[in-house]
Amino acid sequence: MAKAIECIRDEHRTMARLLDMLETQIDLFEKTHQPDFELIQEIIDYFLTFPDLYHHPKEDLIYRVLKQRDPDVVARFGDLEAQHEQVSERLHKFTRAVVGVMLDAEMPRHIFVEMARDFVSGERKHMAGEESVFIPAALAVLTEEDWKDVDHKSSRFKDPLGQGSVGTRFTVLTEQLASWRGTPSA
Ligand SMILES: [Fe+2]
Ligand SMILES: [Fe+2]
Repeated sequence: MAKAIECIRDEHRTMARLLDMLETQIDLFEKTHQPDFELIQEIIDYFLTFPDLYHHPKEDLIYRVLKQRDPDVVARFGDLEAQHEQVSERLHKFTRAVVGVMLDAEMPRHIFVEMARDFVSGERKHMAGEESVFIPAALAVLTEEDWKDVDHKSSRFKDPLGQGSVGTRFTVLTEQLASWRGTPSA
């Protein structure tokens, strides 16, 4: 299988775990108003740093080739690039809500919870669509030459939380992921 697709699926698994973790923190916020903000911040930092800037453009690259080879995919799946814009908007909105709630205890809690849940469900829905329609369509349609080109162009965008990654940037997440009980849902 194409290396790029293996990476994308692996990244989806990481993101699914982080969304499960985030959901646990949202539940905690609702009950106690005292979630682990350090963990929430790192999760957001990860989503802003990697999926928003590197994961989605890799998918866009594959999508553009797929669209050329099979224009019908747009009708079946919708516009992936436009979906990524929406995902990014939700992420930025959620980030502002987290900063808001950390800076101002008066911010209505239900608004924060709503935005947080909206972010989590939007991400899950987006990934589920990619896994069930976009990736199978790409695997069926792109040629070996296409994959060589995609793999070549996307190989340097490595997930900082992926297998074999080294680094100290996401220390809390690296630790938490190692012991996270959740089963990947994507
Ligand atoms: Fe995506
Ligand atoms: Fe994705």
